[in-house]
Amino acid sequence: MAPSVEEIVARCHGALAEHTPVLAVRDVLDELISDPEGLEQSLGTVDIGGITTLHNAADLTVLRVAWTPGISLYPHEHRMWAAIGMYGGQEDNSFFRRLPGGLEAAGGRELGAGEVLVLGDDAIHSVANSRRDFAVALHVYGGDFFSVERSEWDSETYEERPRDLERTRRLFEEANDRWSNQH
Ligand SMILES: [Fe+2]
Repeated sequence: MAPSVEEIVARCHGALAEHTPVLAVRDVLDELISDPEGLEQSLGTVDIGGITTLHNAADLTVLRVAWTPGISLYPHEHRMWAAIGMYGGQEDNSFFRRLPGGLEAAGGRELGAGEVLVLGDDAIHSVANSRRDFAVALHVYGGDFFSVERSEWDSETYEERPRDLERTRRLFEEANDRWSNQH
């Protein structure tokens, strides 16, 4: 049976009481994404890219993120643990390390449907969807995703600047426009 949004959030919330919350959340996500049809039924079919907030509090944020085909989000940090459970398409993650005055590349991971990626508090990553279908995932964060002060970096120059979620929103809008013009 498809889990309701309340159930999804309650299960993630329950994981916070475990010894290592991020690993407990990883297990919850593993289970949830094993039923992609159930998640689609609860959260709706994706036909546009963007971030949907399922829950946002000081200790936990749960998002449904749908990456538009062709989108590429510049490097950014979260300053809290994160677990990403893919249930459709594929996210291409690139990882970075801080350097004085910038960043250096530190590998990557293509995250396909059915896989969970765990990120530590100090992770810096960029995300792209290089495929021709939406990349859809549950993103769970161990804090208030929208309020914590953190950084992002220019894709080309790696210049650090304060995280700007309005810029991210515009990036989705542009990618959605490009994608819908092709169809
Ligand atoms: Fe991220």
